[in-house]
Amino acid sequence: MARLVIVSNRVPPPRATGGVSAGGLAVALQSFVEPGTLWFGWSGRVTEKPSGKPGFADGQGVTYATIDLSSEDYDRFYVGFANSSLWPLLHFRLGLMRYRREDFEGYLVVNGNFADALMPMLRDDDMIWVHDYHLIPLALALRERGFNGRIGFFLHIPFVPASVLEALPPARDLLRALCAYDVVGFQTHTHLEDFLDCARRFTGFAVEGQEVVTNGRRVRAIADPIGIDAAGFARVAARSAGTAYIQRVRDSLIGRALAISAERLDYSKGLPNRFEGFARLLSRFPQHHRHISMLQIAARSREDVAEYQVLRRELDRLAGDINGRFSQFDWVPLRYMTQTVARTKLAGLFRAARIGLVTPLRDGMNLVAKEFVAAQDPADPGVLILSQFAGAAEELSDALLVNPYDPDAIAEAMHVALEMSIDERRERHAVLRRAVFDVTAARYCNVFVDALRGA
Ligand code: F6P
Repeated sequence: MARLVIVSNRVPPPRATGGVSAGGLAVALQSFVEPGTLWFGWSGRVTEKPSGKPGFADGQGVTYATIDLSSEDYDRFYVGFANSSLWPLLHFRLGLMRYRREDFEGYLVVNGNFADALMPMLRDDDMIWVHDYHLIPLALALRERGFNGRIGFFLHIPFVPASVLEALPPARDLLRALCAYDVVGFQTHTHLEDFLDCARRFTGFAVEGQEVVTNGRRVRAIADPIGIDAAGFARVAARSAGTAYIQRVRDSLIGRALAISAERLDYSKGLPNRFEGFARLLSRFPQHHRHISMLQIAARSREDVAEYQVLRRELDRLAGDINGRFSQFDWVPLRYMTQTVARTKLAGLFRAARIGLVTPLRDGMNLVAKEFVAAQDPADPGVLILSQFAGAAEELSDALLVNPYDPDAIAEAMHVALEMSIDERRERHAVLRRAVFDVTAARYCNVFVDALRGA
């Protein structure tokens, strides 16, 4: 059987269980990788003069190989093109996009360095699965170095319509690079359709059904929504609910309902709008004063990117403003943390919550929404309030769907959730739970690997 080689910018430490800062990618794949797999990527280290030679670690039969980045690579590839150009662009935030030719150059250089380091480790019949926007040109770089085996790519974040993508100067290069893969996967059908349309417009290649026909290659595009290990997460949540940590949380609530949000501190997550939504709940529905506490966990992330620093200052200000306006001497409505919280603790917090607020302005999927559903006690479940612009909304339409740009809609959904009867909560949760248990991390991985095997 062909060996699977996974390539992603971040490589989890062997046997890591992750926290909210890790991002869904590493967590979803970690539960799937089998002994014999090679996982390659960035070590997370920035060094003076990286050798380009990988360092190795082993965990449960999986080999993890990583290389360092130089500070110039880190600035141009990671801070620059990946996170200041592609990330805002693919989250529909053209106003935040910053483009510099030297950053795109650096992006190509690092993809070339990845290919150089990976080539000597490859066998002819390996199947390579590349993840996310940092590594779009990797297949092209590997093909140029002589690798002819199967290579697939999965985009964990949204894909945009042609009218948005065209703002990026090297849009055509990126589309051509995507067409060097055998399989290209997206979280939703909408992203898939946008990709096919962009491929047609920017490359001039023909599109037949879900395939792009290039010179001598057929690229198959698929929609393959990512999921979680739902049964595993539900077990962790039930166990965590009985720990001293969650008991402390319950004691601190003294019977108040808990609304919870947890994610990386990122402008795509709609945090200021959500804070404003909570403030409107408190001003428009004063009956909830003293009966609700909101816990926002926003794990610090990408702190070298200017927009993230601006956002952090804005959230500090908004949190202070809300608590200044509404607190009473024995009730502080908003609890705001920017530390990482371990997944086992998060699972217990989700289970203890009456409301899960997941309101990104745009998101590829959003696994927190799925984790919140899996963590609930089916006899007394909390209510999921979900952005209509998260990929997860395609599958979780029985959540309370909101437009995250409208703080009043967030406030009204919170009010509805707080007043919702136990019967309605159970009914909605049962439907959501089926969806989350149906499309799991294992299914996501199997669908992709089967498509790659068939390429
Ligand atoms: O899930 C999207 C993603 O960008 C992953 O590719 C990434 O590893 C994660 O979020 C966390 O971001 P970063 O690697 O920049 O810390």
